[in-house]
Amino acid sequence: MTSMPDHLERTAAEPRDKSLHTVVLQSIKDVNNTTRIFRLGVPRDSPPIRFLPGQWLDVYVPGVERAGGFTITSTPREARLAYPSLESEEADVTPSLNEQGENVEAAQGPYLELAVQRSPENPPAAWLWQEHDPPTADPQSLASGASSIIGRELRVRVGGGFVWPPPGINVRTLRRVVFVAGGVGVNPLVSMLCSLAPAAAGASNTAGTNLEVRFLYSLKDPGVSAGDSGYRKAENMLFLERIARVFRQGRVKGSLEVFLTGGGGSGTGIANAEEAKSTSITGDEDGEGEENVITVGGGQAEGENENKEGNDAFAIPFHSRRCTVENDVAGAVGDPRFAVVYVCGVPTMTDQFVAKLTSRRAEGGLGMEPHRVLCERWW
Ligand SMILES: Cc1cc2nc3c(=O)[nH]c(=O)nc-3n(C[C@H](O)[C@H](O)[C@H](O)COP(=O)(O)OP(=O)(O)OC[C@H]3O[C@@H](n4cnc5c(N)ncnc54)[C@H](O)[C@@H]3O)c2cc1C
Ligand SMILES: NC(=O)c1ccc[n+]([C@@H]2O[C@H](COP(=O)([O-])OP(=O)(O)OC[C@H]3O[C@@H](n4cnc5c(N)ncnc54)[C@H](OP(=O)(O)O)[C@@H]3O)[C@@H](O)[C@H]2O)c1
Repeated sequence: MTSMPDHLERTAAEPRDKSLHTVVLQSIKDVNNTTRIFRLGVPRDSPPIRFLPGQWLDVYVPGVERAGGFTITSTPREARLAYPSLESEEADVTPSLNEQGENVEAAQGPYLELAVQRSPENPPAAWLWQEHDPPTADPQSLASGASSIIGRELRVRVGGGFVWPPPGINVRTLRRVVFVAGGVGVNPLVSMLCSLAPAAAGASNTAGTNLEVRFLYSLKDPGVSAGDSGYRKAENMLFLERIARVFRQGRVKGSLEVFLTGGGGSGTGIANAEEAKSTSITGDEDGEGEENVITVGGGQAEGENENKEGNDAFAIPFHSRRCTVENDVAGAVGDPRFAVVYVCGVPTMTDQFVAKLTSRRAEGGLGMEPHRVLCERWW
């Protein structure tokens, strides 16, 4: 028996629900070599699963006594979707995951989604990551049961205090919410962002019209895709397409800035820089990475072309450097008296950012009130 604390020990002081729910593993999607997305369906006649954006699940997988801990990346709205009629269910096959988390999901009924990193030493993660058939030309093949664990029941319990809305703050008094994500730390923040956004473009924003969202997302540069001369594809970058579409479709007010680290910098090919500038996914371009773009949909940046899901193809500009508090977060915050910042990244990033945001101005910090800077540490 190892002496390392498991999820239950690490989160013993966190709030968690009493109810243990049964869910069914409905689909698995490979994002890249290290991260997979899992969709957990809520069975018919089950009690509803309630949670706040940002919360996680204790996850009990078959044959493993101790729970794993994984963050819910979908929204409470998706956990409340109506069940399809029994007739349509009999005739239907499972549709593929929609990056929007929108209408096609309604055919599936309520669900929760997780994004889990490959961790062979962690028994629940290893169970979820056991080999499945590779994707085929048919994008529905995985979702329709190619994997041996599809259809298995898991038990889950909701917990956690890193949530939207921010505890102790009246959201109506806020002008800005700043999300700072590092790598897989994007998980709780994508749930919060999509919860703030109405399900469809054009619908009114439930959080109030004055709230501006600044999303800063730093991740390792995957490099250009083989065979795509000079293009980086968003589809291999966890939730990037989903996040970018929220801003592009105007479902929240604000902007997204992307930071790709550890890559080749600006030496890569340019996929349509004019188009990239006009999409304004980021607020201010500092010129540093403006010739670099990540393509979304359609395989390459083709302006307003529509892909098969009715979403347009476009390009996301990015910075080829790390995100910093001084250069990036401070500007995104604006007036700290009317802002709240959520940080979830690798532990050193989280600790450094929280310290700078909350330390006094005389010490070079931003002097934010501690309850306005929320973070989650995964260990
Ligand atoms: C609040 C929170 C949210 C998280 N959200 C996510 C997420 O969304 N996605 C994600 O990929 N990861 C998430 N994690 C991390 C995840 O829970 C694991 O820590 C991660 O999979 C790394 O596992 P590890 O075995 O490499 O390391 P550790 O978790 O540090 O485990 C160290 C060792 O302890 C033992 N051990 C740990 N857990 C168990 C267990 N359940 N049963 C038996 N032995 C165990 C194993 O020997 C393991 O090698 C989250 C963690 C927390 C606390
Ligand atoms: N809250 C948490 O405790 C938490 C959350 C998420 C992940 N994790 C764990 O952390 C490990 C790595 O996660 P990952 O693979 O997703 O992340 P990663 O790919 O190693 O890093 C993600 C991004 O964060 C940047 N970054 C790291 N440290 C930084 C710092 N001090 N300042 C500014 N930017 C910084 C990285 O830049 P560089 O490439 O320059 O390093 C990279 O762009 C995993 O084991 C994961 O499970 C913990």
